[in-house]
Amino acid sequence: MSGLGLQNQRVLSGMRPSGRLHLGHYHGVLKNWAKLQHEHECFFFVADWHVLTTHYDAPEIIEQSVWDMVIDWLAAGINPGSATLFIQSKVPEHAELHLLLSMLTPLSWLERAPTYKEQQEKLKDKDLSTYGFLGYPLLQTADILAYKAGAVPVGADQVPHVEMSREIARRFNHVYGKDSGFEEKAEAAVKKLGKKNAKLYSNLRKDYLQDGNEESLQKARALVEGHASISLGDKERLIGFLEGGGKIILPEPQALLTPVSKMPGLDGQKMSKSYHNTIEMREAPESVENKIKRMQTDPARVRLSDPGNPENCPVWQLHEVYSPQDVKDWVQKGCTSAGIGCLECKQPVIDCVMKETGEFRERAREFEENPEIVRGIIAEGSEKARDIARETMEDVRNVMGLSYR
Ligand code: TRP
Ligand code: SF4
Repeated sequence: MSGLGLQNQRVLSGMRPSGRLHLGHYHGVLKNWAKLQHEHECFFFVADWHVLTTHYDAPEIIEQSVWDMVIDWLAAGINPGSATLFIQSKVPEHAELHLLLSMLTPLSWLERAPTYKEQQEKLKDKDLSTYGFLGYPLLQTADILAYKAGAVPVGADQVPHVEMSREIARRFNHVYGKDSGFEEKAEAAVKKLGKKNAKLYSNLRKDYLQDGNEESLQKARALVEGHASISLGDKERLIGFLEGGGKIILPEPQALLTPVSKMPGLDGQKMSKSYHNTIEMREAPESVENKIKRMQTDPARVRLSDPGNPENCPVWQLHEVYSPQDVKDWVQKGCTSAGIGCLECKQPVIDCVMKETGEFRERAREFEENPEIVRGIIAEGSEKARDIARETMEDVRNVMGLSYR
């Protein structure tokens, strides 16, 4: 990865609209976004086209999911004054860039994306042998490159896609960013390496630029640096030439790995809609209380007088997320000595979760009552995003022979 710091980098991330978000989304993603918005220029968007790559047969779920999700972003403290919020399909430049990038994207890069086979296996009841599904990481690449984003906060499962966007940007710059004067000088310098090394250098360079092979880049660098008889100027030229050497039209983004959240669900597994163990961000207070009161505890505690072990209890995991040390000490002591009952133990967790969800509900109320405010935020954000994406498309069309002036 490049040595550039994160300062002054444009941050961009997207989320598929999946309806109302839960506390796992908040602790896993949104809390991080809310922090980033104060440190960087941030763009957060609703990836509605991405939903169609897997759920093309369910268009009726999209709209409500989109607005519910945006309200949850706002409830989490994502501030439209600090970050630009928009909907992917309101910026059709994403689609145009997707199309143009598809011209130079090797099929094999898409086929080897880990999510491709994985999701096809997982969603077996769906026919995902579609063109759109195969191209989904490329659509994601277009999402990122349209803004020349420097940093892309994502979870570990999405890192290969950001990696792909780096490889595609590199290939694009290699094909379209040629600067003729430089190229000739660099070619002349390659010859000075001697016949055998020149050939090796050229092959390694091609491996790196076209196929993204980092190892080849390292080898080629070592070859140049270790060469005894060429000038410093030529060395620099040869190193620059390795990384494309021409103009950078689409900068390579970096994945910003989101710290893993340990947010447990009601059953102690990771909180996830598919496990039916969630508490929604805007869950009603009575419902929060009921859900936590109904949680299973350590099965060894049949009677109040049976001591338990917090390690075997999902309620303890919630204490780990929400409770200060003194409460945690109280739980440990009370549970293992049968000094407290499970309902008693759950109460501080109920209080904390209710406080948190209460804050989300409070922030959301204005937007629930005035949907036109939410529409306005998105309309404004989408315009702002579009201005930037339009500029990128000008650059892209120019180098691809589509400017027609
Ligand atoms: N594919 C991502 C997901 O499923 C969402 C996404 C779409 C995204 N486009 C993006 C994330 C661009 C980061 C940048 O979670
Ligand atoms: Fe779980 Fe608390 Fe009951 Fe122990 S006392 S089993 S930690 S709910």
